[in-house]
Amino acid sequence: MSSLTSLFENNRRWAAKMEEGTPGFFQSLSNQQAPGYLWIGCSDSRVPANEIVGLAPGELFVHRNVANVVVHSDLNCLSVMQYAVDVLKVKHIIVCGHYNCGGVNAALQNLSFGLIDNWLRHVQDVYLQHRDEVDPLSESKQRARLSELNVMDQVINVSRTTIVQEAWKSGQELSLHGFIYDVKDGLLHHLVEDVDNTEDARALHSGDLRKVNRGVALLPD
Ligand code: CO
Repeated sequence: MSSLTSLFENNRRWAAKMEEGTPGFFQSLSNQQAPGYLWIGCSDSRVPANEIVGLAPGELFVHRNVANVVVHSDLNCLSVMQYAVDVLKVKHIIVCGHYNCGGVNAALQNLSFGLIDNWLRHVQDVYLQHRDEVDPLSESKQRARLSELNVMDQVINVSRTTIVQEAWKSGQELSLHGFIYDVKDGLLHHLVEDVDNTEDARALHSGDLRKVNRGVALLPD
C-alpha cells in the first residue's frame, strides 16, 4: 500500500461530498473556468488560498511563491497575471501575505537556507527601503510590520506591470488589493483596498496612504 493512500481516500470523499452538495458540480466546471479573482500568496502550508476565503474550485485563480513576491522579471508570475487579466478577465488581483512568514523572518534576520536566500533578497530590499520604520520596533513587531510592508510593496509591483497598466488604459475593470492573514487566529485583514486606476497606484507608490489601512503590527501590545 502506498504511503500516500490516505490522500487518495481523502480525495474520493471530498469529490463525493462536493458532488452531493451540488450535483453536476465537476461536470459543469470541466468545460471552462471563470474565476473573479487572482490570488498571489505565500507558499506557506498554513495559508491555503481557497479555504480561507471560502471559495470553491473555479472561483479563484492562484499563484503562490515563498513570501508572495512579485518580481518585475519573474516570467512565471507575470504569465499567471497576464492570463488572469487578459484571458480570464478577473476583476480583482489580491496580494496576500501573512504574519509569521518564514520567508519574511529569514530576510529580516539575514538567515541562510541556500538558494532561496537569493529569492528572499527581494524581501530584504523591502526591509532596506523601510528601515527607519521597522528598526525601532520590538523584534516581533519588526517581523509583523515587514510582512505588512512586503504586501504593500508587492501591490505596488503589481500595479506597475505592463499587464495592469494596459488593462487600466483600455478601460478594463480591475482592482488591486493587499490582504494579510494571521495564522494565529485564521483572520484576514484588508491592508490595501481597491486600487483601480493609475492615480491610486501612483499615490500608493508615493506613500500617500489613501486606501491603505494600518495593519496590526503598529498597534500597542
Ligand atoms: Co510565508
